[in-house]
Amino acid sequence: MNAVELHNLSKTYPGGKQAVRDVSLSLEPGEVFGFLGPNGAGKTTTVKLLNGMLTPTEGTCRVLGADPAREPEKVHAVSGVVTEHARMYDNLTGMQNLIFYAELFGLPADEAAGRAEALLREMELEEAKDRKLAAWSTGMRQRLSLARALIHGPKILFLDEPTSGLDPESAQNVNRMIREMARNSGITVFLCTHQLRYAQEICTRYGLIEEGQLLASGTLDELRAETFSRITLQIRAGSMPPGMGFRRTGALEYETSIRSEEEIPEIVRRIAAAGGDIYKVEAKQPDLEEIYFALTAPGRERLQ
Ligand SMILES: Nc1ncnc2c1ncn2[C@@H]1O[C@H](COP(=O)(O)OP(=O)(O)OP(=O)(O)O)[C@@H](O)[C@H]1O
Ligand SMILES: [Mg+2]
Repeated sequence: MNAVELHNLSKTYPGGKQAVRDVSLSLEPGEVFGFLGPNGAGKTTTVKLLNGMLTPTEGTCRVLGADPAREPEKVHAVSGVVTEHARMYDNLTGMQNLIFYAELFGLPADEAAGRAEALLREMELEEAKDRKLAAWSTGMRQRLSLARALIHGPKILFLDEPTSGLDPESAQNVNRMIREMARNSGITVFLCTHQLRYAQEICTRYGLIEEGQLLASGTLDELRAETFSRITLQIRAGSMPPGMGFRRTGALEYETSIRSEEEIPEIVRRIAAAGGDIYKVEAKQPDLEEIYFALTAPGRERLQ
């Protein structure tokens, strides 16, 4: 069974804004899926549809086989959600907040306390756990929000901009925790983010959405193949014999574009045979950021 499934999913808000247009995709268990797209693309709307906070206008979605619109309690039992702004109880301590949510999910009191303790430790919130949330910083709240989403041992985690509003250090902390959890627990992660470098570090697959439409989905290699047909070959050489087809990009730097890495050995042999001294050879594949800009509107405009 797929962890998450969207079939021709569309959502038009009252008032007429069509935020999601005919999106189909599926996630296998254990995937860390990066859902990327500019502001207003429809990412949050999709997460809300997957959590039963909104109902589709057309099409369907499923979370581990359950329909969030019809069986929200089944979906909530197997999933956790972290939204941009963590809302919890300011007049309760960190520990009390977690126990409250654990008991909502029906965990017995001693198990709730045990899980809360363990998660507070994992999220490095042990010191603050008995202080009321009113005194917590945004970064601490965001980490607690992640702990809350994990309190009932979900199989799927929806993360909508989990580091929004955090300073670089807190963002890095939250990112590290998500990465460790994704690697160690086998949980399926559906991550909406604008942090493309970070997404490239942790995601196994991506979907790019713009104006409600899914532009592309796949692994980094699949997206590369779809967007860029060529690889940049960079060579550092004492001298470059003429006629090799390289342009000079720095004092000892030369660059050309090739179709596949298989061309490299022959190119290196030809340069060496013609008397060029090679210090370094690097084939540069486009990264997620380049792919994103090639596929989304700002990038398409820039290329025109
Ligand atoms: N409750 C609502 N009523 C009407 N329109 C809405 C509502 N919520 C969102 N929209 C509109 O739907 C579109 C998609 O919004 P959504 O919040 O899903 O985008 P997003 O990809 O999450 O953007 P961001 O990266 O800024 O978080 C936007 O045009 C937005 O203005
Ligand atoms: Mg959003």
